Amino acid sequence: MKSPALEASLEASLSQHRPGRLCGIGVGPGDPELITVKALRRLQAAPIVAFPAGLRGEPGVAQSAISTWLQPHQQQLPLTFPYVQDEAILKAAWKTAADQVWQAMQNGDVVFASEGDISFYSTFTYLAQSLLQQHPEAQVEAVPGICSPLAAAAALGIPLTVRSQRLAVLPALYQMATLEAALAWAEAVVLLKVSSVYAQVWSMLQQQQLLEHSYVVKHATRPDQMIYAGLKDWPDLKLPYFSLLIIRVPHRRP
Ligand SMILES: C[S@@+](CC[C@H](N)C(=O)[O-])C[C@H]1O[C@@H](n2cnc3c(N)ncnc32)[C@H](O)[C@@H]1O
Repeated sequence: MKSPALEASLEASLSQHRPGRLCGIGVGPGDPELITVKALRRLQAAPIVAFPAGLRGEPGVAQSAISTWLQPHQQQLPLTFPYVQDEAILKAAWKTAADQVWQAMQNGDVVFASEGDISFYSTFTYLAQSLLQQHPEAQVEAVPGICSPLAAAAALGIPLTVRSQRLAVLPALYQMATLEAALAWAEAVVLLKVSSVYAQVWSMLQQQQLLEHSYVVKHATRPDQMIYAGLKDWPDLKLPYFSLLIIRVPHRRP
């Protein structure tokens, strides 16, 4: 029979070898105050904090948003996720990142901070899938955050939808026919990743007489946030990646 002291010490040594957990937290669109209380608690409790590495040596959005809340003893783990379409390159990057996270999890809990919400077109989904493919026993938790369309609507001071209105979100636009179909179906349409197709979108909105009902928000909630409410005078805006466009289709469903 084991003594209570021996049992406690066995348990302690077993728990030392158990990997930590991965917790994905959505940290919101940029303003450090738009993190939830729960995400902040998870962030500050974790010994290791991972996030997507910024580009060209600049801090990434999630990294900037959490920098106020990080504590000196926390280990930072920037992970590289390329901005490409090539599925093979992406999968290789997700696997490399998952390997790094798994290795870090051997030393304790890891929080992965992601901009906006972690299940809304988020890198966290791919990271967690890749981790679980290789290590099905890994413990993964997700804490939601405020996503960019909601932050943009608040910045504009408009409701995104009311009553029975329908909302369409187009994560990227490869064909104008997709936008046309969305405008025929929904009362509110949100276009993410709009920067590369802005000129074509503007022309379609002009044809459909929707420019007055369209809004662009660049870097919502960040110090350099810019708002364009009504796009009639803005046919050739040069927008950064973190911009989105909202169209409120008038005179349809209340
Ligand atoms: C891959 S999606 C990520 C969405 C993110 N997970 C979220 O919850 O908002 C990236 C797109 O989200 C939009 N976006 C994210 N943050 C933004 C911000 N602060 N201001 C404007 N658009 C933003 C942009 O359209 C960008 O191209």
